[in-house]
Amino acid sequence: MARIVVITTSPEMGEQGRIAQEAQALGYDFCLLSLKDFNYSIVNGEIKVEGYEPRKGDIIITRAIFKLLHAITALVSYYKTKGVKVFDNNLLNHKYSINKLTDFIKLATYNIPMPKTYHVSYFSMYEEVVNNVGYPAIIKLTKTGRGKGIYKVASKEELDLFIKERESLIDSLGLDPNEKEFKLKKEAERFVIQEFIPYIHDLRILVIGEKVYCMKRIPKEGDFRANFSLGGSVELFAPDQKDIDLARKALDAVGLTIGGVDILITQDGRRYVLEANHTPGMLGMEEATGENITKEYLQYAIANAR
Ligand SMILES: Nc1ncnc2c1ncn2[C@@H]1O[C@H](COP(=O)(O)OP(=O)(O)O)[C@@H](O)[C@H]1O
Ligand SMILES: [Mg+2]
Repeated sequence: MARIVVITTSPEMGEQGRIAQEAQALGYDFCLLSLKDFNYSIVNGEIKVEGYEPRKGDIIITRAIFKLLHAITALVSYYKTKGVKVFDNNLLNHKYSINKLTDFIKLATYNIPMPKTYHVSYFSMYEEVVNNVGYPAIIKLTKTGRGKGIYKVASKEELDLFIKERESLIDSLGLDPNEKEFKLKKEAERFVIQEFIPYIHDLRILVIGEKVYCMKRIPKEGDFRANFSLGGSVELFAPDQKDIDLARKALDAVGLTIGGVDILITQDGRRYVLEANHTPGMLGMEEATGENITKEYLQYAIANAR
């Protein structure tokens, strides 16, 4: 029987169980290949990966791969040479699943409206760029998702505290001055600084090939981040054609055929794209729309595996 093989480094994500369920409902065998622990051998030129024996008719779907990207994409390319079909949502080309620093540049290249965004290499430069965007400012990690690395600083005192906390962590490592400088620079470079958009709607538009789904996300009490994964509630939202066009343009800019585009809408109707998510969650959208989005995702991936 044909088999769907999902390769991931995040086997714990809720979607994985839904994908297994829907793959089986579509009549496929299913294998979740977690490379969270990546154990392989190459003996006499033969590559063997613990947990996976390629079979004729396998369809590999790469999903939520957040580490060892170069090695894992090389491995997937190897399986392709063995005749296994792959749906990678362009991962083999990008070689990243989350890299906002890169995607902001791609979005700007396509003139996609986005919040003013600054990236600087030293904490000593933060205050100046925060002054450019004004308070409150958003400081966000460029390589995390699901709302985890998003901070809001409302005043110079909060900004100083944000920096101090990170500096004291590095101080506590007891490094020599050179190493400490290096670590501090690396830490400062993990973030971007953005203007805060006082939004009235935080939309997620999920595009799966020709299909488009849209929900509005409402932050839980006391939070400004609307992510479903942080406990935000979701409701069905009917997007304007221009929002759908904007989402499609954002996907083109980043280079995805399946993606989740976050759009903030302000009182006066301005739109700001926050990101085009390469591994969009499906559970929130299923809750909001009542539709079987996981099935749609799988059918698209199967039809477009090459
Ligand atoms: N510049 C901003 N202005 C206002 N809210 C923001 C801004 N950036 C992020 N947020 C809030 O935080 C949420 C998560 O931000 P996002 O950039 O999409 O990162 P993630 O990849 O963690 O989802 C957004 O959906 C929004 O509610
Ligand atoms: Mg987001």
